[in-house]
Amino acid sequence: MWTELNEAANFLKKELQGFQPEIGLVLGTGLGQLMKEMKDAQRIPYSAIPHFPTSTVQSHAGELHAGTIQGFKVLGMKGRFHYYEGYSLAQVVFPIRVMGMLGITHLVVTNAAGGVNPDMEVGEVMMITDHLNLLGDSPLSGPNIEQLGPRFPDMHDSYDATWAGYFRQAAQHLNTKMHEGVYAALKGPALETPAEYRWIRTIGADAVGMSTVPEVLAARHMGIGCSGFSAITDLGVPGRIRKVVLQDVLNAAETAGKTMSEIILGGLRLAQEAK
Ligand code: HPA
Repeated sequence: MWTELNEAANFLKKELQGFQPEIGLVLGTGLGQLMKEMKDAQRIPYSAIPHFPTSTVQSHAGELHAGTIQGFKVLGMKGRFHYYEGYSLAQVVFPIRVMGMLGITHLVVTNAAGGVNPDMEVGEVMMITDHLNLLGDSPLSGPNIEQLGPRFPDMHDSYDATWAGYFRQAAQHLNTKMHEGVYAALKGPALETPAEYRWIRTIGADAVGMSTVPEVLAARHMGIGCSGFSAITDLGVPGRIRKVVLQDVLNAAETAGKTMSEIILGGLRLAQEAK
């Protein structure tokens, strides 16, 4: 794995010609809008990068974008990999590790999720403050890659409190509603039954989805700070559970994605000012 990671990282170093990324960005289902904010973006299809997985989901394009957002040099993943697609978690987090090897110190991850907190409405945004790994597996299982990080990475401050402050302040400036809460990751691909939604709420989650947690585990392993955002695309709240249709999820992600982009842009501006 280490050899493959190096081959991918070396390929990208050459392609990027001295571009030193500071922030990694992972954009989930229907949340590609933020890439439009990227200045002077260079695009590299995943298929050109050695050992990079390629996405099997239609709604996820597979392209790495390198460019500038709010003065930060950003590597953006348009399209990500999910455990339910049949990849190992090591494959799912391969791009995160490569971005870490290229020098990112912060990762911003976004996703579409089902809201289980009754205060939520479809189309709203939740900033992730913590997570529950319900995948039954970890990208860090197996022999530890010592070059990347320790055997037992600490997870008590996985979602960076300082950056959370920037995004909170940005949401306030925008006068926009932003929930904060715990994201639970399940393997999927089936959505949850009403009993499962109740269970997820009971054990302390505010939203549930099928991604993000592997990426955050891999990033924290490497000491990379993390921020996460969920677009609430449907509700797993008793009495308000509806049939989930992919197109509805995409529509809700687009609505939430606009707010999310503004919050992320505002937060990055504050992070830049604080640098
Ligand atoms: N559950 C799991 N994953 C999801 C959901 C959900 O309700 N909505 C979008 N992704």
